[in-house]
Amino acid sequence: MTILDVHDLVKEYPVRSGLRRRQTGSVQAVSGIGFTLDRGRTLGLVGETGCGKSTLAGCLVRLIEPTAGRVLLDDEDFTALGPEALRAARRRIQMVFQDPYASLNPRMTVRSIIGEALEIHGLHRGREHQRVQELLELVGLDPDHAGRFPHEFSGGQRQRIGIARALAVDPDVIVLDEPVSALDVSIQAGVLNLLERLQDQLGLAYLLIAHDLAVVRHVSDDVAVMYLGRIVEQAPADELYERPQHPYTQALLSAVPVPDPRAERARTRLVLSGDLPSPANPPSGCRFRTRCWKATQVCADEAPQLRTDDRGHQVACHHKELRHVI
Ligand SMILES: Nc1ncnc2c1ncn2[C@@H]1O[C@H](COP(=O)(O)OP(=O)(O)O)[C@@H](O)[C@H]1O
Ligand code: SF4
Ligand SMILES: [Mg+2]
Repeated sequence: MTILDVHDLVKEYPVRSGLRRRQTGSVQAVSGIGFTLDRGRTLGLVGETGCGKSTLAGCLVRLIEPTAGRVLLDDEDFTALGPEALRAARRRIQMVFQDPYASLNPRMTVRSIIGEALEIHGLHRGREHQRVQELLELVGLDPDHAGRFPHEFSGGQRQRIGIARALAVDPDVIVLDEPVSALDVSIQAGVLNLLERLQDQLGLAYLLIAHDLAVVRHVSDDVAVMYLGRIVEQAPADELYERPQHPYTQALLSAVPVPDPRAERARTRLVLSGDLPSPANPPSGCRFRTRCWKATQVCADEAPQLRTDDRGHQVACHHKELRHVI
């Protein structure tokens, strides 16, 4: 059952210059993104730094006001809610931030950080203290450490505090913006395993954002690949990793090492040339065309639309022969 339904989401930031700070252009950080997320499922969202992932995440929870588009949360138009209704609805969609150092107030104890969320929504009145302890236990932290400050915890533990804060209000959806990128590789798996366990236990839906396809592989049901503000490919996880169709996804996967050294030596690597173009001045037509080895004139003239085949695989590319377009 669909819990989050996103339609044509757009976010443009004004570009100002000169002494009078006049608007001279705009940065199209998110350029028409749509997807659905079902209860209890995980959609992995992957793309290079600067492609608009955090802007999209911010728009979904309305920390950033989208320029256009709609976000339906359990059929309710989250984008249209006034301040009062928004405050109440925020309970149902929570966010975990990339940097657990910056996102926790260093002057507050863990008890007050998590307790604040309960207070805002008037939850567990009179037993906030117990609830904080339960939440700490749920994320694998010692409940006796509730009186400590964020700097007394390791990076991985701090991210668990961020997760406990998101869980405090019993959300249906959690938007996780690169939740393990700031952590040592050795502790990333522990946090990802915790997220999976919590999902099973609580029926949560996740949008799991990463800049690396390897991170989301084993935790995602579906994976979407984003390039310069748009989704260029989306498919069930196994299908995407086994049969990547978009040249950008193929290049990203080609950069992920394979465990078998013989296979690793034998394979040809696709190397992405050039940098991500500026979203203030994106290429015409297909935005990937300046780095694509298959690009032809039509790629400059027309933006390819996402088309879906019978495996539920969506690709936006003019030169992709879809098996059976539906
Ligand atoms: N407040 C802002 N004002 C202007 N441009 C912004 C702002 N926030 C982000 N951007 C630009 O929007 C683009 C997408 O940024 P972001 O969403 O942070 O990408 P990601 O999370 O994928 O790294 C970048 O080019 C970034 O510089
Ligand atoms: S539409 Fe053209 S430029 Fe874009 S990915 Fe496909 S082949 Fe490459
Ligand atoms: Mg980001």
